Amino acid sequence: MKLLKTDPSTSTEVFSRSIRSLKSILVTGGAGFIGSAFIRFCLTHPHFQGKIINLDLLTYAGNPDNLNEIRISENNDRYFFHKGDILDTSLLHRIFEEYAVDTVVHFAAESHVDRSIISPENFIKTNVNGTFNLLETARACWKDTGGKLFHHISTDEVFGSLGETGSFNETTPYAPRSPYSASKAASDHLVKAYGHTYNLPVTLSNCSNNYGPYQFPEKLIPLLILNMKEKKKLPIYGDGKNVRDWLHVNDHVRAIGKIISTAPDGSVWLVGGDSQADNLSIVHLLCKIFAIETGVEPEELTSLIHFVKDRPGHDFRYAIDACRIKRELGWKPLYNLEEGLAMTVRWYLSNVQWIKKIQSGEYMNWIKDNYAGR
Ligand code: NAD
Ligand code: TYD
Repeated sequence: MKLLKTDPSTSTEVFSRSIRSLKSILVTGGAGFIGSAFIRFCLTHPHFQGKIINLDLLTYAGNPDNLNEIRISENNDRYFFHKGDILDTSLLHRIFEEYAVDTVVHFAAESHVDRSIISPENFIKTNVNGTFNLLETARACWKDTGGKLFHHISTDEVFGSLGETGSFNETTPYAPRSPYSASKAASDHLVKAYGHTYNLPVTLSNCSNNYGPYQFPEKLIPLLILNMKEKKKLPIYGDGKNVRDWLHVNDHVRAIGKIISTAPDGSVWLVGGDSQADNLSIVHLLCKIFAIETGVEPEELTSLIHFVKDRPGHDFRYAIDACRIKRELGWKPLYNLEEGLAMTVRWYLSNVQWIKKIQSGEYMNWIKDNYAGR
């Protein structure tokens, strides 16, 4: 298997031609999977000079360890962490004032479809009311909107489910079908409405399924890798034919960097990995890679594949036509799926402490001990 020799995540052109100052970025949900990748990307980027304020409630999905690299780096004086809820209006106002926030990059969300099916309430609170709260705060605090930006991170799931052919683009109508995607669709509409009605400077991106290091192991790819490690069954919903368009998280955060630096106010961007695969192909590919990396027999791994009851309302296929961002912002995905998955498998095999903390419950105690009352 051909592997990339270098990590292509920090292409230097991002930020260098920025039309915005990006001096003080409020990142919500920056202790989660994608938000933490975005913070690591910015603060290790040679052309990013601003500071980052990470506001995160540290739910089960938020993990300050995802930012250890930043905390011990020479850039830690440009990184500020606040444990808090985007539903807390007075905290949001304090942060906007204290740090003179000029940019919001809004990741904070309840993000797992299966959880939204079991208990949807928090999805409405955080994804809908939380986004509304942030928009209202930006509207109140940004008297002068020059150079400001509210960038909203959303998902391709708002467009519903595709059949065997076709793909989503910037003109696809919304048709969400799970409580998660419905809550994200509602938040997208609010963001667009604030841009239209109040001239709030907003941009929005809808991306496909992300994968890569630091993803909480309830999502398909890290769950399969960790189950392989422990020789547990590999649960595949339904017949395994559902298709997702896989995007490496480093490609995604580079796209966000491009959008916040150069995209015009009011613009919407679809970001995809050009890597469609059904779930059965993903599990077989992961078994192959895991076998190469560990020396375990591939057949021993594939024998763990286990078909389970399908997810209710399971969307069949998502696929993104990313032509617009490629053409207009000069972005394209740099990871191919097999290389990206191989790097991800190696990361989960070597970051034993990170995994141990998450699985042991020690991690939740650590959060209580370290962040109580802040
Ligand atoms: P994640 O679940 O890993 O992280 C979410 C973060 O938000 C956590 O750190 C959590 O503590 C924080 N959070 C939750 N509720 C909060 C609240 N009320 N106040 C403050 N912080 C809160 O999610 P992710 O995978 O990193 O996704 C980030 C964003 O990207 C989400 O908006 C998600 O909808 C979107 N998205 C994700 C994917 C994907 O494949 N993971 C794909 C498309 C879009
Ligand atoms: P997931 O990672 O939950 O992302 P999303 O639902 O947002 O696409 O699931 C990706 C695909 O994998 C989806 O088709 C559901 C399927 N899946 C399984 O087959 N088994 C699992 O254990 C999980 C978590 C997901």
